[in-house]
Amino acid sequence: MNKTYTILNYGCQMNESDSEHYAGQLSDLGYHYTEDFHEADVILINTCCVRESAEKKILGKIGEMKAVKAKDPHKVLCVTGCMAQKDGEDFLKTYPQVDLLIGTAHVNNFKAILQEYLAEKNRKAGIYNDLTIMPQEFEGHFVRKSEYAAWVPIMYGCNNFCTYCIVPYVRGRERSRSAEAICEEIRKAVALGYREFTLLGQNVNSYGKDRGEANAFAQLLRQVDRIPGVERVRYMTSHPRDMSEELIKAVAESRHVCKHFHIPVQSGSTRIMQAMNRGYTRESYLELVRRIRSYVPNAVLTTDIIVGFPGETEEDFAQTMSLFDEVRYDAAYTFIYSKRSGTPAAAMEDQVPEAVKKDRMNRLMELQNKHRLKHNQELVGKTLPIMVEGLSHNNKQMWSGRTDGNKLVLWPVGDRIFNPGDVVPVTIEKAQTWLLKGRAEL
Ligand code: SAH
Ligand code: SF4
Ligand code: F3S
Repeated sequence: MNKTYTILNYGCQMNESDSEHYAGQLSDLGYHYTEDFHEADVILINTCCVRESAEKKILGKIGEMKAVKAKDPHKVLCVTGCMAQKDGEDFLKTYPQVDLLIGTAHVNNFKAILQEYLAEKNRKAGIYNDLTIMPQEFEGHFVRKSEYAAWVPIMYGCNNFCTYCIVPYVRGRERSRSAEAICEEIRKAVALGYREFTLLGQNVNSYGKDRGEANAFAQLLRQVDRIPGVERVRYMTSHPRDMSEELIKAVAESRHVCKHFHIPVQSGSTRIMQAMNRGYTRESYLELVRRIRSYVPNAVLTTDIIVGFPGETEEDFAQTMSLFDEVRYDAAYTFIYSKRSGTPAAAMEDQVPEAVKKDRMNRLMELQNKHRLKHNQELVGKTLPIMVEGLSHNNKQMWSGRTDGNKLVLWPVGDRIFNPGDVVPVTIEKAQTWLLKGRAEL
């Protein structure tokens, strides 16, 4: 038997983690991975619907599969993830090339659903409308993409209902895993050679609240920090409204939790923050930034930002620009507002014209790139611990790795061979906007 599968993954880290679950289940059934979907017996497309641009790209790919399936009807095409959850049964009607549709709460049942399909050949939507159920603990093994860095979901869903966002509708309410299950999974991965762990949730600061626990995320971080063999701990995403002093202290006092704070601000204008239902103001957010820097002076700060939210005036946008000048982020993920039907913001008046959104986006990116370059230049001459990723994809004469703040660093291949996950002291010699270059001190 030589059956193969491929997975095309879109969207956030939670989806990447789900894809590793799917890969594990396919491998349990005896399937081998192939990169080429033309070869694969099972093609799984794990989808995202956070912005229209993501949906368009994915629909293009699903369209392409029509011809692939016509040529080779035995192939099984599975569409999973957030778009599948959002569109449900309608999706199967519109796209006859799709055989199985799997919702976001169904990840762990995939193996059973696929086996049933192979026996009965009934096209099927495996969607739970009830997104309050807790995905069961995963019994099988993961097939992880990385050899040294592991995603670890700690909770599912989101209760925040930011007015622009589709995620709460497709991922359901917050459900936390137990700390024991999380630590057990990490210990097992350490035994397999994993060194870096990213704890995942839409709002990790709410971790444990659904189980009636207070300040549970700070405690979980302290617990994970003590697991022998854990070199680096990251987490995402933490909502600025819920970022407690206790959590900042836990990061500051830990040995292995990266001194990197990703605190998505979304807008610099209090008026727009409120229209977004973010639950903080410009002042309280800046206070949080000051608190983080008082505990962790060299903290790397990054953010997510949306330009062109409905009703955003030139004055509101100027507030975003000035907030960026005040905070001076190391990096920012900038998004143009995308209307998601069913969310409150989609029905708001004063939608901002596309050309205005694009112009604001360009101005903000230009400003952010300046800040980023300046931060990188401040690292020149410093020797930093770098976790090795491997040889650089673009230049096999260079090693590549990441700083604690997740910045990409390259250094020349010398006599020493490094393994992914090793930590190497590297002195930074050259700073560019997107890249640092240096020399290893070993
Ligand atoms: N739960 C995480 C991630 C949410 S999705 C968080 O709260 O940070 C990742 C990012 O996508 C968000 O932070 C936001 O900046 C962006 N985003 C979400 N919905 C969007 C929309 N409708 N249009 C544009 N960007 C959006
Ligand atoms: Fe979306 Fe807001 Fe939840 Fe993040 S916190 S997933 S932006 S609703
Ligand atoms: Fe996209 Fe779903 Fe993640 S909508 S961003 S894949 S939670």
